[in-house]
Amino acid sequence: MKIKLKVNGENKVFDVKADEYLLDTLRKNNYVSVRRGCDNTSCGVCTVLINGNPAASCSYLSCKADGKEITTVEGIPEEAAKIAGFFGREGADQCGFCNPSMALTVYAMKKELVNPTDDDIRSYLVGNLCRCSGYQGQHRAIKAYLEVE
Ligand code: FES
Ligand code: FES
Repeated sequence: MKIKLKVNGENKVFDVKADEYLLDTLRKNNYVSVRRGCDNTSCGVCTVLINGNPAASCSYLSCKADGKEITTVEGIPEEAAKIAGFFGREGADQCGFCNPSMALTVYAMKKELVNPTDDDIRSYLVGNLCRCSGYQGQHRAIKAYLEVE
């Protein structure tokens, strides 16, 4: 079946199977910043924004995304670079596998949360695992990024 998506601002038509997940549709169409980890909604590395909200693309049927706006990290180059700068300064940038999904989640967090507490930040990140860090550097980086106008 054909579905229409707006990916990073571009209108696209993809031919998908009825049981195909968005992660597979995106990766086979070269959006390879969207990563595969657990494949069962536990790790968050497949996160994309669907109509601006973070979602695990490994468990989101492509046909359900028909007509929606999808954002991968390539769609937010300036903010992603800014977020990467904060992560680097706080020593939170290690293997980088979680970076695209983390950047999208933090970007969405900044749009959604007003003056978040530390607990609000932690709650928003639930489901975004990082196998390298102890999360403290990331937390400092996110707080610094959220304070920038
Ligand atoms: S690959 Fe989707 S949550 Fe882990
Ligand atoms: S930096 Fe390696 S998984 Fe997060």
